[in-house]
Amino acid sequence: MEYIIFCIIAYLLGSIPTGLIVGKIGYKTDIREHGSGNLGATNTFRVLGMKAGIIVTIGDILKGTIAVVLPILFQAETVYPLIVGIFAVIGHVYPIFAKFKGGKAVATSSGVILGVNPLLFIIMIISFLVILYITKYVSLSSMLTGIITVIVTIIQKEMGLLIVTSLLTIFVIYRHKSNIKRIVDKTEPKITWM
Ligand code: G3P
Repeated sequence: MEYIIFCIIAYLLGSIPTGLIVGKIGYKTDIREHGSGNLGATNTFRVLGMKAGIIVTIGDILKGTIAVVLPILFQAETVYPLIVGIFAVIGHVYPIFAKFKGGKAVATSSGVILGVNPLLFIIMIISFLVILYITKYVSLSSMLTGIITVIVTIIQKEMGLLIVTSLLTIFVIYRHKSNIKRIVDKTEPKITWM
């Protein structure tokens, strides 16, 4: 029963459409109607700028972190936080509060990792920034960071983390299908500020 309650809370937390809230309240703009149309941090940066992008990035990360920290805080020892975290990511991608059309799983997945393994989160951020600096593609950096995360968990011999990071990375790559097509077609936008 405990498990179900924490998973439902995680799904609802993940479902909070931070990009939509920040866009509509702060900028009277629905980011789903602009840029890539994605309800994520990258499209918020693209459409609304740096300040809104940073707020949404932090909000989307925190949804995953809070979801996995809650069972730890409530000492739900039979509940495995990483499983709960997957539900936060599902909420972020298929949000009940935004017609089930959300983001691409990147920021909230990283928030889940932050909640259970902060060192791995730091490795992810560094990998992401280095790949972004080299390629200028946010989408490619997100996918490759997922793959690097899986490799690090193999090296760390963390079986639970390996299974969950593998599932999340497959999900992230699946959600970037349209980006992959655009990268191949050379029509994916590159960042210009780095
Ligand atoms: O995190 C999502 C990012 O990797 C791509 O977003 O808006 O460029 O499709 P977008």
